[in-house]
Amino acid sequence: MHGEKRALYYVGRTLSAPLQARLQERSWKVAVLEPGTVPKVAPRQPSAGILDFSSLEFPADLRYLHEVLANALTGWVAVGHRENLEDATVRGLIRDYCFDYITLPASDERVVDAVGHAYGMAALQVSVSNDARKDARDGHPEGEMVGSCDAMLSLFRAIRKVAMTDAPVFISGESGTGKELTALAIHERSGRRDQPFVAINCGAIPAHLLQSELFGYERGAFTGANQRKIGRVEAANGGTLFLDEIGDLPLESQASLLRFLQERKVERLGGHGSTPVDVRIISATHVDMQTAMMEGRFRADLYHRLCVLQLDEPPLRARGKDIELLAKHMLDRFRKEAGRRLRGFAPDAIAAIHNYGWPGNVRELINRIRRAIVMSEGQQISAGDLELAEYVEVAPVSLAQARESAERQAIELALLRHRGRLGDAAQELGISRVTLYRLLTAHGLRADVSAMPSSDSRPAA
Ligand SMILES: Nc1ncnc2c1ncn2[C@@H]1O[C@H](COP(=O)(O)OP(=O)(O)O)[C@@H](O)[C@H]1O
Ligand SMILES: [Mg+2]
Repeated sequence: MHGEKRALYYVGRTLSAPLQARLQERSWKVAVLEPGTVPKVAPRQPSAGILDFSSLEFPADLRYLHEVLANALTGWVAVGHRENLEDATVRGLIRDYCFDYITLPASDERVVDAVGHAYGMAALQVSVSNDARKDARDGHPEGEMVGSCDAMLSLFRAIRKVAMTDAPVFISGESGTGKELTALAIHERSGRRDQPFVAINCGAIPAHLLQSELFGYERGAFTGANQRKIGRVEAANGGTLFLDEIGDLPLESQASLLRFLQERKVERLGGHGSTPVDVRIISATHVDMQTAMMEGRFRADLYHRLCVLQLDEPPLRARGKDIELLAKHMLDRFRKEAGRRLRGFAPDAIAAIHNYGWPGNVRELINRIRRAIVMSEGQQISAGDLELAEYVEVAPVSLAQARESAERQAIELALLRHRGRLGDAAQELGISRVTLYRLLTAHGLRADVSAMPSSDSRPAA
């Protein structure tokens, strides 16, 4: 580490000489970015950044900032005066991109410390994915999250941020989108990484066994209980408890889970007294929780305890070029199962990969590729090998059809970006809310909106 210079960007107009000297002393190579310029950051190289709101002009300077801040490998620290926080755009930028916010006046020491921390978080991100790459070579392929589209980059950023806290995280998304992988990524980037990560699939355990699975039992608690058994909650002590498919948790168990979350103590079945347990809770589901609550299948009080921080896993079909990236990644990963040379995907396979809608998301992609690797006879994997032959050719389209589908896609993406908030999506699309509503109806998208976890109908958290 000694003598090695780490890159630090300063965005603003007034980097003080003492702070600059202090940073250089700590082996930072400081590059001042005049507002309006975008750094050329070497990919896969972590860096740190100071975003000095006290010296930026609002709103002129804020406009280009997204582009500067979007690099997932730079750990940003914002500094500014209290009144800078009154600007909603500033607050949004801090929330979305920065590891820390320092209110001025503050000592240079405090800034230097925060920068070191932000760099550490960004570097962790790099080394975690490098480790995963190494694991993949060593035959432990799980763990690496592939993604480069905007939606995935913002998910990675969110993962890093929620990892730094102990608050409960709720992950929503369709099946096979990577919810479990995300939960694990949070755990591995958190202070609990050396402690257990215990996953429970709430939907897969029969209701009458759930209670003892979760909380354990004492010897003699019921016929057949010859041994004391520690429950999964207790087994996660010190670490992270991942409650998968929480939407399928029976009401009866919801009550005991709520009690646990309130008291942070478990009571084994047939036991006297309770044991304190310290776990970080991450839950996930593909179920639409608003509907589940409305229909009385899920307790609202429990939901609000679980869903303090929310992450949305984008469906595969909304990830653009990432679909191909993932396909190639999976082919590399499972290639050895072929037992012969395989030279990538044929052009028809690539076309089909993009035309198909992937209802089963990444899990389906993996399954199709593994099957194709085994079944294919040529040197390349064809659309037929993926059983997607009918998706090679897109049916000929008229200009009207093309316009309609482009319009639909733009609307879908805007809604996804804004988590179903109609007002924000309409603004981005440059139309009124009323027009957006009419278009949603015309495209049959209204059900999608109400199914989104954070749509307008959701009570403010
Ligand atoms: N972004 C990704 N990069 C690489 N693999 C992924 C990604 N997302 C999901 N996977 C893989 O897809 C499969 C399904 O992911 P999982 O986390 O179990 O989904 P979910 O819990 O949402 O149903 C797993 O094998 C997982 O490793
Ligand atoms: Mg899952």
